[in-house]
Formats: sequence, structure tokens, C-alpha cells
Amino acid sequence: MAKTFKIAVLPGDGIGPEVMAEAIRVLDAIGRKYDAVFDGTFANVGGAGIDHEGKALPQTTIDICKASDAILFGSVGGPKWESLPPDEQPERGALLPLRKIFGLYANLRPAIIFPSLTGASSLKEEVISGGFNVLVIRELTGGIYFAQPKGIEGQGRERVGFDTMRYSVPEIERITHVAFQAARKRGKKVCSIDKANVLSSSVLWREVVTAIAKEYPDVELSHMYVDNAAMQLVRWPKQFDVILCENMFGDILSDEAAMLTGSLGMLPSASLAEGTFGMYEPSGGSAPDIAGQGIANPIAQILSAGMMLKFSCGMVEAADAIDTAVATVLEQGYRTRDIFQNKPGEKLVNTKEMGDAIIAALK
Ligand code: NAI
Ligand code: MG
Repeated sequence: MAKTFKIAVLPGDGIGPEVMAEAIRVLDAIGRKYDAVFDGTFANVGGAGIDHEGKALPQTTIDICKASDAILFGSVGGPKWESLPPDEQPERGALLPLRKIFGLYANLRPAIIFPSLTGASSLKEEVISGGFNVLVIRELTGGIYFAQPKGIEGQGRERVGFDTMRYSVPEIERITHVAFQAARKRGKKVCSIDKANVLSSSVLWREVVTAIAKEYPDVELSHMYVDNAAMQLVRWPKQFDVILCENMFGDILSDEAAMLTGSLGMLPSASLAEGTFGMYEPSGGSAPDIAGQGIANPIAQILSAGMMLKFSCGMVEAADAIDTAVATVLEQGYRTRDIFQNKPGEKLVNTKEMGDAIIAALK
């Protein structure tokens, strides 16, 4: 009997619904090929939530997510909602609460440059020839973004603003296990990022990561200060395999790593909780500049669906098939506008045509 997975489908705003439609078509094709059913329930989030239900994260959406095995998320936000109070805006009102409500503490962002796309990167061709593949693992529910106390106190020029960088041993341990388990299945190297020369939280971070590493003798551990890591990523990204970071360092370094690959439209992400529940979304936003034109690159959303197959559905072979199909269509020259370089052999396609090509390559 076919396995059934309940998926909360949250397309959101801008290009979200356009790229989501292609990811759903790819999942249907995967379901036929691998005998699985993806039972998707659509729900409003972000600006769509505000417009239809008065809230960026309506309770009906939370309930649908709670009744599902995974969340497939598009992107939220846009100029239409920018004048709302910050906490009611699409991103702050929906994304941060979703991470908290579902305990999504591990953010995995693979920054991959496919060999056929090296010309799209902001780095010199000789630095990235042959492509690279870095996995940034970012702690997502702790550290300076969440720890107390935080706030602004006092009056006028006497005011002080403050945040607290705090990590507990169990918080560090669980994200470290995620990093080492991921490294075991790839290049067998973890580079842990900290600022242990200045920050106490980083001293503890380094100590705990070093202790956990002893459980993974087959994986090589190195440590790097975050400022050096920012520099090394642009100098020689191929030296990295898995990069392990606390929340804020990971926020910054994962954006840097993403941009080295050329287009935000290519980069998926997974945010994982304990167990198999997770939320899967492209690294980019709602791209209001190209929304409604049907030209967005659906690959990030499709690869995010692939990560969902791997982590929430246990369908590793199907997930690999998606990665391979994407590599194949890129080698065949299919390019949406964001990755089109007008080189011989390239074919400029729209969102739906890219979806068609990937589905054809799956067969
Ligand atoms: P953005 O990622 O939406 O766009 C940046 C640039 O990348 C634009 O030129 C856009 O056209 C391009 N781009 C992004 N995804 C693409 C795709 N799939 N195909 C082709 N081109 C693509 O970031 P921006 O412009 O800073 O933000 C726009 C809105 O998105 C804002 O409201 C922002 O708050 C929101 N946002 C939402 C995120 C989320 O839902 N997770 C993440 C980042 C931004
Ligand atoms: Mg960020």
C-alpha cells in the first residue's frame, strides 16, 4: 500500500504560489514513481494570511501544520504589508512564531554550486571551478535572537538597548549531533564557528562541540572564529564541508554562502525539530520585483520538497532523484532568467517550463 504523508502547504506571497505549484507537481510525479501519496492541505500564511484571515499566522494555519507530517513553505512579505506594525508583518508575524511553536531548532542550508553554473557565482571562476557544496547548519531557536533579558530601558539619551547571548549545554549538544550526523553522510568534516576568544557562550560552545565530536571519530572537527570564517568562505569555499553555527553567526554566514552560488532561486532549506517534523522553504524571499510574471526559478522550492522527502518522509532515494533531475536539466541547458547567461546551449525557460523539464528528467 502506498505510504501517505500529510503536508501543510503554505505558499505565502509574491512568487511563493508560483514556485509552490511546480514543487507540488514534482511531488505528484515522485508519488507515482515511488508509490507514495502526498496529501497536501493548503493554508494561508504571511500577507495571504493577513488579507484572508486578518493575521500573518492564522490559528487555522497552525492547526493544519499541527495535523501534518511536514510544512512546505513558500515565502512571505511584500510592499503591500510594510506599513503594518513590525510584529504583525508577514515575516515577524509568521516565520519566527512558526519556528518557536514547532521547536524547529536546526536549520540546514546547503549552498551548492552546480558545475554547469559556475559562471553565475560572484566568485572568480578559478576559485569555484568544478563547483562546491557546503552545508551550513544553524541553531535556530536559541542564542541572541531569543535569550532573555533583551529590551530597551531608560529615557532619551540615557536609553540602553541590550540582548543576551546565551546557550545551554543541551542546546549546543543537539545541534552538534545534527551537524556530525550530516557530515558522516557527506564529506566527513565539521567546521564549528564561534568567537571563543571574546564570548563566554562561545567558550562553552567550543567545549561542548569538542566533547560530542569524540562520539564521531570518523568525522574531522575544526574550529574557526566567525570573522575568519566570513573571510575564508569567499577566499576558498571548497575547504568547507559542514559549517556548524549558533543562530546569529549562522544567519550571516548562510546568506554569505548562499550568495556565492549565484542565485537565491536555487537554494533550499530545512528547519528541523526533534523527530521527523520539519519545515522546508527556499532561502530567498517573495521577490516582488518578478512576482506574477511566471518567470521565477522554482528550483529552490523543488529542492526544498526534496529535503522534505529525505528528512520527514524517509524517502532518501526519491530525494536523491530530485537532486539528480535538477543537475540533469541544468546540464541540458535549461535556465530561468536569474541563471541565464546567454551562453551557447542555454535555453531560457519560464517557471512552468523548468518544472516540466525537471519532471521529464525524473522519468
Ligand atoms: P528576495 O529574496 O525576495 O529577492 C532578492 C532578489 O532575488 C530579487 O531580485 C529577486 O527577484 C531574486 N529572487 C529571489 N528568489 C528568486 C527566484 N526563485 N527566482 C528568481 N529570482 C529570485 O529578497 P528581498 O527583495 O529582500 O525581499 C522581498 C520580500 O521577501 C520582503 O518582503 C522580505 O521581507 C521577504 N522575505 C521573505 C523571506 C521568507 O519568506 N523566508 C526571506 C527573505 C525575504
Ligand atoms: Mg537572514
